[in-house]
Amino acid sequence: MAILEVLKFPDARLRDVSKAVNQFDAGLKKLADDMLETMYAENGIGLAASQVGELKRMLIVDTRPRETKGRYEKAEMSDLEAKITQPLVVINPVLVKGEGKETFDEGCLSVPSFFETVERHQTITLKYQDLRGKEHTLVTDGLLAVCLQHEMDHLEGTLFIDHLSFIKANKIKNQIKKHGYPDKKKKSDDQDKAEM
Ligand code: CO
Repeated sequence: MAILEVLKFPDARLRDVSKAVNQFDAGLKKLADDMLETMYAENGIGLAASQVGELKRMLIVDTRPRETKGRYEKAEMSDLEAKITQPLVVINPVLVKGEGKETFDEGCLSVPSFFETVERHQTITLKYQDLRGKEHTLVTDGLLAVCLQHEMDHLEGTLFIDHLSFIKANKIKNQIKKHGYPDKKKKSDDQDKAEM
């Protein structure tokens, strides 16, 4: 396994649309393993392949409570979320249904140290394939639903800052342009914030 470089905004590669996966081989499994190692090393709860420069419609998530990993032990999982085995590798996902609305203070490993409230569907139904190409359908809500929607955005070249008001997004963009990213990441002590 290897820790991969996570591309940071404004890297233009984060704006590309990822392509469908049609080869479910050892190389894909290796990429998934490397992405998991990278996500855990970065204390994230999700990562899309495009964030490590691979334009494949694949993402990984692990929203289980972790003591030091951006989500604290106290955080409770929803019943639907708890039913799903994680970490989860999701390939060629398609949103079948999105219901309700939910807001969460999202952060992104590609825009580190910035957190802003984003509105998403509360409950989602997703079709996807696993590493062997087998098709699955999942229904979830909670942080897992937020994270999956955030990662699916990455597959389209969309970042969470694109969901913010012009003023808020510009503030973040200008700060990054002027000062870059902080050397040391602000630790998210808040269980209601996570980078993905
Ligand atoms: Co992200």
